[in-house]
Amino acid sequence: MSDFSPPLFEQLCCPLDGLPLLFEAPSWRCPSGHCFDTASQGYINLLPVQNKRSRDPGDSKEMVAARRRYLESGVYEPIAAGVWRALMDGLEGEAPYACLDAGCGEGYYPRYLRQQDQQGQLALIGLDISKWAVMAAARSSPDIRWLVGSNAHLPVPDGALDAVLCLFGFAVPDEFLRALKPGGIWVQVETGPDHLLELRRIIYSSLKVDKSQEQTVAAGFCLEHSERIRFDVSLHTQEQIADLLLMTPHMFRASMPGLERVRQLTSLDLQVDVQIKVLRRL
Ligand SMILES: C[S@@+](CC[C@H](N)C(=O)[O-])C[C@H]1O[C@@H](n2cnc3c(N)ncnc32)[C@H](O)[C@@H]1O
Ligand SMILES: [Zn+2]
Repeated sequence: MSDFSPPLFEQLCCPLDGLPLLFEAPSWRCPSGHCFDTASQGYINLLPVQNKRSRDPGDSKEMVAARRRYLESGVYEPIAAGVWRALMDGLEGEAPYACLDAGCGEGYYPRYLRQQDQQGQLALIGLDISKWAVMAAARSSPDIRWLVGSNAHLPVPDGALDAVLCLFGFAVPDEFLRALKPGGIWVQVETGPDHLLELRRIIYSSLKVDKSQEQTVAAGFCLEHSERIRFDVSLHTQEQIADLLLMTPHMFRASMPGLERVRQLTSLDLQVDVQIKVLRRL
């Protein structure tokens, strides 16, 4: 249990015109009269129809459920612990720190940070374009601000955030730059070259070189810290292997025979290989 109740982030902006949103129960309103309701699960949908590329963008309900089961088993806890360390080492100035997880999925990492944050220093915001993901996230953690929205248009004022997290997601460096305070940090987690190598060897007949390792730092940021986290996991059921597959892009890239080979597996030993980068806004 926390010693203090954690702060809830209130500085939201209208996704249609960028004006500040004020809470008039049960809705959030901007001075132009745009109105956004708080859903019964506790999240706010700030994704206007015109910013949607499809009717139901982002991860599907099935993908969200698979990610929840997989992550709740605790297999990626070393990654969550690395993100917590990166945040605590990188945050500067006075608490509370506004920290937004851009593409938060079903919310495993914000939930983990909430549990670690015994002193209530973090005003956590979880944002995802998938309403299924945010719905699942909001049900389990009311003390985090949950938003349906896009990383391309974060519904916060310029310079409002102390930290942006982007974990295995779609980074939008210019938008992260806008939303961060000068001196704020962007924590980026990416897959390394050996990530899930054993799974990829079963799926594909030949493996492509992973281009994600090219080191370029986005304009307006400096790379302050980089840490590679490697560990092994053993999956012992077909269900857990199927859940992992549904969380990865391989589910959609792989051929039918490749997917079938994975479906036949009853156990799988895997390497996890990720890079945590901390980029500071100049
Ligand atoms: C690979 S998942 C990672 C989820 C979470 N960070 C985790 O590691 O558990 C990528 C997430 O990004 C979301 N997403 C995709 N495009 C997005 C966008 N433009 N803005 C916000 N979220 C997006 C998807 O719905 C999905 O939940
Ligand atoms: Zn408005």
